[in-house]
Amino acid sequence: MKKKKQKKSEENYPTTGHEWDGIREYDKPMPRWWLNTLYLTIVWGIGYTIAYPAWPLINGATPGLLGWSSRGDVAAEIAKVNAQNAEIETKLLETPMSEIGADAELANFANAGGAAVFRTYCAQCHGEGAQGGKGYPNLQDDDWLWGGEIDTIHTTITHGIRYEADDDTRFSEMPKFGEILEPEEITSLAHYVRSLSGLENDAAQAETGKELFAENCAACHGDDGTGGRDQGAPNLTDAIWLYGSDQDTVEKTITYARFGVMPAWTGRISDAQIKQVAYYIHELGGGE
Ligand code: HEC
Ligand code: HEC
Repeated sequence: MKKKKQKKSEENYPTTGHEWDGIREYDKPMPRWWLNTLYLTIVWGIGYTIAYPAWPLINGATPGLLGWSSRGDVAAEIAKVNAQNAEIETKLLETPMSEIGADAELANFANAGGAAVFRTYCAQCHGEGAQGGKGYPNLQDDDWLWGGEIDTIHTTITHGIRYEADDDTRFSEMPKFGEILEPEEITSLAHYVRSLSGLENDAAQAETGKELFAENCAACHGDDGTGGRDQGAPNLTDAIWLYGSDQDTVEKTITYARFGVMPAWTGRISDAQIKQVAYYIHELGGGE
């Protein structure tokens, strides 16, 4: 009985009128709600491509009526952070270097910013941990070429070292003694230089070297070899070497001299960033 009823209803069901080999096609359209959703998404999609950047062109894409771009989003984000920092940054610029430490909030801001500046601009030469390397001074220890006071560090970073494009750069030049002295004299000098920090040396050679040192080197490195900061001349009596302490290297240094260059940072990074990184370096442990 039930079967019969079902059969009848199927027979009465409207068809599209298509028929193949006795198989008829029912007329069963998609539900209205489904179709409406489809149409809505199409309208929304077209609207979206009008409002936002979408259609690829030869150089770029259609800009979209709203003028939105991911680059603009990032710029807005950066502007927001800058606005948040504006107040403390102004305060940093107004505070003398030596007084930053007295204000905990300012000191924190300087240290955190300085660490970021260091990682970005300084680590490639001075090492990730500021430990330095051959020709690049360690900035963590208390051995300073040009001085470790906070204002001195600030000046060094601002104007660079032997950076000729900056008129106020720190400058000095050790003469190439290969053009002035005999090779044997340079060998004697190297023995004397090594004797200053207790390294193995020939006593007779060192004695000759001592006289040569007083005549040729003391003006910059000091009578006792402890260095001279107005010339950036390293202390030769400690165990810290910028270029190396073995006899061969010391002879090379005296013969050809060295000319370590550090760029000036003014104009490359902001004044606030220079203050931050100067504070950070001073805090690393060796600051005076
Ligand atoms: C291109 C390599 C290079 C970069 C980058 C560099 N420095 Fe230097 N820096 C040097 C050299 C080389 C010296 C040593 C120059 C000399 O022989 O007197 C030096 C010296 C210094 C000194 C003096 C140390 C002393 O004993 O007096 C300070 C401070 C310093 N750098 C800080 C920085 C900071 C901060 C940055 C990043 C903003 C930086 N440097 C980036 C190469 C670099
Ligand atoms: C005009 C000043 C000046 C005079 C004179 C001078 N020096 Fe120097 N010397 C320097 C400076 C500056 C440096 C560092 C160069 C650099 O960092 O690039 C240096 C570096 C050195 C170093 C390398 C130290 C290290 O840590 O690796 C040695 C060794 C040295 N001098 C020995 C001598 C001897 C020996 C004489 C004399 C024959 C002499 N210097 C004369 C300025 C001078």
